[in-house]
Amino acid sequence: MCYLRPRAPRDTTRTLKGHPRAFKDTILTHSDQPRPLQSRASGALTGKVRVPGDKSISHRSLILGALSVGETRITGLLEGEDVLNTAKSMQALGAAVERTGDFAWRVRGVGVAGFAQPKAPLDFGNSGTGCRLVMGAVAGCPISAVFDGDTSLRTRPMRRIFDPLEKMGAKVIAVVEGGKLPLTLQGARDPLPITYKTPVASAQIKSAVLLAGLAAPGTTTVIESEASRDHTELMLKHFGADITSVMEGQHGRRITLVGQPELHGAAVVVPADPSSAAFPVVAALIAEGSDVVLSDVMTNPLRTGLFTTLREMGGAIEESEVRGDAGEPMASLRVRASKLRGVEVPPERAPSMIDEYLVLAVAASFAEGTTIMRGLHELRVKESDRLAATADMLRVNGVKVEISGDDLIVEGRGHVPGGGLVATHMDHRIAMSALVMGCASDQPVKVDDTAFIATSFPDFIPMMRSLGADFS
Ligand code: S3P
Repeated sequence: MCYLRPRAPRDTTRTLKGHPRAFKDTILTHSDQPRPLQSRASGALTGKVRVPGDKSISHRSLILGALSVGETRITGLLEGEDVLNTAKSMQALGAAVERTGDFAWRVRGVGVAGFAQPKAPLDFGNSGTGCRLVMGAVAGCPISAVFDGDTSLRTRPMRRIFDPLEKMGAKVIAVVEGGKLPLTLQGARDPLPITYKTPVASAQIKSAVLLAGLAAPGTTTVIESEASRDHTELMLKHFGADITSVMEGQHGRRITLVGQPELHGAAVVVPADPSSAAFPVVAALIAEGSDVVLSDVMTNPLRTGLFTTLREMGGAIEESEVRGDAGEPMASLRVRASKLRGVEVPPERAPSMIDEYLVLAVAASFAEGTTIMRGLHELRVKESDRLAATADMLRVNGVKVEISGDDLIVEGRGHVPGGGLVATHMDHRIAMSALVMGCASDQPVKVDDTAFIATSFPDFIPMMRSLGADFS
């Protein structure tokens, strides 16, 4: 069975270059009615699907397309709300962004440091990645822009981004208490190259500095003590930048970018998102008798900590059709229902699976034995406090769980009672994780609002139903 996408993205009334479905009329704040849903065990999940394009690569392809000279053609773009907000911001900054077909987009860029002053605030909705990467790109241009987002994004830390950007010559000229959104960023007229050691393993901080460094003369260096996802580095190289990355210490990297390159528009094929694949993968492992194939899943080792962990737990996940495009490897994953056992997940693995702990905690609840996930402090500053939210999701469904410092400890008993109502806290991954839990729990699991799933995986519900999930 091959899943066919049944509909265009919703909320797409604004006309852009004759493609009325390219953008939303207004950026959603999801003040519309919450959309609750219940997930009930349905037996085996079967079939072959392709989850949507990778969110990290989708944001970066639009931003680098906009900073290049000439045309960038993107296929397989994730048409989720987060990425559409980045597309809108690139348009507002002067690039021509056009939807040319299903998941196919064309960007005509303005060149490095070529952004124009936007006429209105840039609103990134729920997306930390879009907001933070665009801050970096704007920091190298002599313009000012207001950055804003929804109530979830307005609670998230931004000082970690504008601290290094200020060292490069940008200024934050209006910011509310605590360095949160909304804020006004004045880009540097003459940006300075810096050497910057990131205070936490964060691809968003690293990428913001590198994107600002594009406009600076000389060499910008980012040092990270634990390697975070390297899509910005790989894509910058693909667009013609002179950038190198070498090991630093046991787990870190030193990335060096030569500033003021001429970036040339390029073709980008966006592989399927491993962070979205995580949901059907775990659902297939826990729902007895399941056999599911996920095609074209990106297998960059800096993103696949979840698959490594699930295999250590005894999960049957086989790779085939291994290939690569623009430095990003991908493969088909065949996942079969498995008896899982508890494991200890080391803290240094966190950057390679930072968005996957919620759904790993679901797998751990169905495992036999204790799973200890170490070093999860960054989960507290995601779309919600995911450490607390994960523990709550498990507890209301009868799973024994404990937070100890930055560690999460889950007592797996081979089955999950279920029967709980899970609060999503404007967080797409909480909603999807809870629905996955319900695919195999003794009693159904309810979520209070599924609206935010559209930020990263607009067709999650129909795609899971196509595999046999019982969502009602
Ligand atoms: C992302 C980096 C990660 C991740 C986010 C996407 C990116 O955030 O959680 O969903 O595309 O660079 P941090 O950089 O804050 O770890």
